[in-house]
Amino acid sequence: MGTPHFGTRASENRPANKKNRGAGNNLRCANGRRSRVGRTCLPFGTLYRNGPIGELRNRGDHERRAPGQSLYQANKIIKFDGCYHGHADGLLVKAGSGIAALGLPDSPGVPPGFARETLVARFNDPASLEGLFDRHGKNIAAVIVEPVCGNMGVIPPAPGFLDAMRKVAHAYGALLIYDEVITGFRVALGGAQQLYKLQPDLTCLGKILGGGLPLAAFGGRREIMNLLAPEGPVYQAGTLSGNPLAVAAGLAVLRLLSRRGTYSALEDLGRKMEEGYRAVLRQYGIHGTVNRVGSMMTVFFGVDRVQSAADARRGDCAQFARYFHGMLRRGVYWPPSQFEAAFVSLSHLEKDIAKTLQAFSAWAREERRR
Ligand SMILES: Cc1ncc(COP(=O)(O)O)c(C=O)c1O
Repeated sequence: MGTPHFGTRASENRPANKKNRGAGNNLRCANGRRSRVGRTCLPFGTLYRNGPIGELRNRGDHERRAPGQSLYQANKIIKFDGCYHGHADGLLVKAGSGIAALGLPDSPGVPPGFARETLVARFNDPASLEGLFDRHGKNIAAVIVEPVCGNMGVIPPAPGFLDAMRKVAHAYGALLIYDEVITGFRVALGGAQQLYKLQPDLTCLGKILGGGLPLAAFGGRREIMNLLAPEGPVYQAGTLSGNPLAVAAGLAVLRLLSRRGTYSALEDLGRKMEEGYRAVLRQYGIHGTVNRVGSMMTVFFGVDRVQSAADARRGDCAQFARYFHGMLRRGVYWPPSQFEAAFVSLSHLEKDIAKTLQAFSAWAREERRR
């Protein structure tokens, strides 16, 4: 896929040398139009039912051109405990976000046959992933992951974990899908795959892409995208696909994000928040920890280290609830669940960080007196 060129103009994306001569080729996207978006083809549309998941499930008897693999059928998907990938039947298994916050059971109403095709591994635990591949090997079509988790609170990938995931998936001929709905354009203009210098086979994007309006996209290797109709047999469409208003809003946001200094400014504000939070936890002897990647951050209470959904679930949600309401009383509206990420944005100023830290400090003082 090369460095992701999400949203770049055709003229910005011409091949500069032999090495990237694939870039700039005309591709036919799912809306039937020819598009010059480099080797990454991005049909704008609905993410999941008709998106990569549908594509993988549908491709049944299509030849899989993954390394070292020949023809076979694969119906299963691996996801990670605590990752959330939207309201797609098979992916509401062990999902984070609101499902984790409300403590809902997995997928009631989802036909068991769908849920059975979803296997669940532990984030930051390569052995759990390898175990699933050992057992289900060629039945696994793909691994889908939030490369930096945002739906069980923020959990960064441990060094080497994403690489291990890519290696094992490709060794078995499975595709690797990064769900960058949260991390795309947030942790870097090219998302987590740019930050960690690793390329998935497919990428899902949403939210930020539409500048707040309903828009989502997925893209990836040309031979996969060529499976989409009308080029290939996999149908993909949606009422809001390529919606001009949402695309215009998205382009405006991308132009703002492309300005020099954007991501260093976000990192700077994020770092100040993290350092301030850590200092307050220390000062008031509150047991907890802070996870952060760029502008994404979570404070977990009652735990020393959070590297997986199981770690996050061990956190003290009652204390989090006191924290949330304590902050709200002091004028700071933190995301209302231990299993959500807080984001620093470009509209935040140093004084907003200072106000947040003051509120946290005041709450911590009150909390210590309990
Ligand atoms: C990582 C991730 N993927 C997918 C989704 C689903 O997006 P939507 O609700 O727009 O379908 C979300 C929503 O929060 C998300 O956080």
